[in-house]
Amino acid sequence: MGRWPWLFPNPHREIRIDGGSVLGATSRAPLFRFVFALSMVSVLPITRAEPASGAFVQDTQADDQGTVCDGVYTEAQAERGQALYRESCAACHAPDLRGNSVSPSLVGMSFTFLWGGSTLGALFDRFEERMPPARPGTLSPQTYRDILAFVLRMNSYPTGAQELQEYDLHQLLISANPEPGR
Ligand code: HEC
Repeated sequence: MGRWPWLFPNPHREIRIDGGSVLGATSRAPLFRFVFALSMVSVLPITRAEPASGAFVQDTQADDQGTVCDGVYTEAQAERGQALYRESCAACHAPDLRGNSVSPSLVGMSFTFLWGGSTLGALFDRFEERMPPARPGTLSPQTYRDILAFVLRMNSYPTGAQELQEYDLHQLLISANPEPGR
């Protein structure tokens, strides 16, 4: 009792709020106060841990909307992406995307090892934040998406009827196995 006076305040003292309602009134049993204090201890960290905005939500946990195996880009989009890739990326990552001694490969096992389990949005953000190194983020979002479609095709993910759209990106998981069994 003497060590934790805040937990077991003098039952005869009243803390008045707004001159009316009474907290810690004599009728409140110490047990009630103890449970109340415990509940505050467990509630506070939860409210504080609430992310300020959606941007902090872990990106690897997509809302199970789908994967890149569902046919999420079109042939035409990948075709456009190939030309754009040649223009802005191929010098370092090579025309076949296998990279060179300093630029990582964007295909095959090295790609799925690094990106399998992430969302397409995470990969898109990486493009935009870092590439091309001399002028990151200078290409249009559409251009980065088209290049992304080309990268998907080069990784044997299937084409579909719809182009890759911005709102899709963070819902789509990059599955580690484009073609199971291959
Ligand atoms: C001047 C050479 C150069 C150009 C041009 C370039 N890259 Fe890179 N890229 C690199 C280097 C070097 C790295 C490794 C260092 C890093 O991640 O910043 C890299 C890393 C990456 C990564 C991260 C790989 C990983 O798994 O972490 C991606 C994705 C990527 N590049 C995509 C692109 C795309 C898409 C383009 C074209 C828009 C592009 N790069 C243009 C040199 C280049």
